[in-house]
Amino acid sequence: MSETAPPGRPAPSDLDRILRDPGFCRHSTGRVAVVEWEAGSGWSAPRIEPYATLPTDPATLGLHYGQAVFEGMKAFRSADGSVSLFRAADHGRRLGLSAARLAMAEMPTELFVRACVELVAADEHWVPGGYGQSLYIRPLLLATEAEMGLRPSRSYRCVFLAYPADPCFGSDFRPLAVTAATETVRAVRGGTGEAKCAGNYAASLLTRTEAQAAGYDEALWLDGVERRWVEELSTMNVFFVWHGEDGPRLTTPPCDGTIVRGITRDSLLALARDLGLPAAEEPIAIDAVRDGIRSGALSEMFACGTAGAVVAVGRLGTEGGDLVVGDGKEGPVTERLRGALLDVQHARTPDTHGWLLPV
Ligand code: COI
Repeated sequence: MSETAPPGRPAPSDLDRILRDPGFCRHSTGRVAVVEWEAGSGWSAPRIEPYATLPTDPATLGLHYGQAVFEGMKAFRSADGSVSLFRAADHGRRLGLSAARLAMAEMPTELFVRACVELVAADEHWVPGGYGQSLYIRPLLLATEAEMGLRPSRSYRCVFLAYPADPCFGSDFRPLAVTAATETVRAVRGGTGEAKCAGNYAASLLTRTEAQAAGYDEALWLDGVERRWVEELSTMNVFFVWHGEDGPRLTTPPCDGTIVRGITRDSLLALARDLGLPAAEEPIAIDAVRDGIRSGALSEMFACGTAGAVVAVGRLGTEGGDLVVGDGKEGPVTERLRGALLDVQHARTPDTHGWLLPV
């Protein structure tokens, strides 16, 4: 449960304490941005408001029929003290794609970015300065009409929440243990797997919780038809590092409609290529992963996402038992790519892709 600060500036000693050790979204900044849509009148301008509970009618369409999509994005502080949003327009476009899949109103990207900029500007003093730390912004778009008939809502509210944050799996980037899901599936082609909708996360919870009870951090989802092709984790996309004759080669499952189009995933593909590391989006069979770990052809596996950044996977549970990936520790490619990403995010290296938006 997050702690909600009163709006405005907390006592400097409280703020310092929180920013030193924010955890993941434990402390709201106490402020939100709100944008609303109404059939007939369209989108409102963003409003910055104190954090408050949503006035929610129990018949709200978004609660019964799941018209709820969200984003996870970050603002970073650089060494000169300035603050920038990372790939804000790309997050706005992805929210639009998620909304379209669920027959919800699509917010114009410029409006999404404006709301983020206004919120981060108001909460600038809440952006921590540590390497890997950020202000995590969680825009939630929810259908708000009270209506029992099954149809798209005629009103929506988008609330942008903000929290100072460490990476969600911790700032020590301890390697994760994951286990392939054998009984359940997260998504099928033609479904909503690509949308960042609340229902996909709900659908993953049972298996993820069982995996955690068995000593893993996460469940690794396989495709819903053959149960053979690796898809993603419940919270992050995945990459594999293979030993080639010419050096390491990266692969990650393609965006075929069943996985979230990770913005960190896309950033890492670009950064890998910048670093001269070949990186391909291609189907990856779980058997090939298993064989690769056993033979040593697969030397590293890592997970990536906005909330968690880039984290090694050190142990993989499969039907044949647990396998240690490489030596079970973070490998050099994983470390290098996370460094490259964080360096751009904190403006330590030139932003050659135009990903930073100064606030
Ligand atoms: C993010 O990485 O921002 C996400 O939305 C994943 C979330 C489940 C923590």
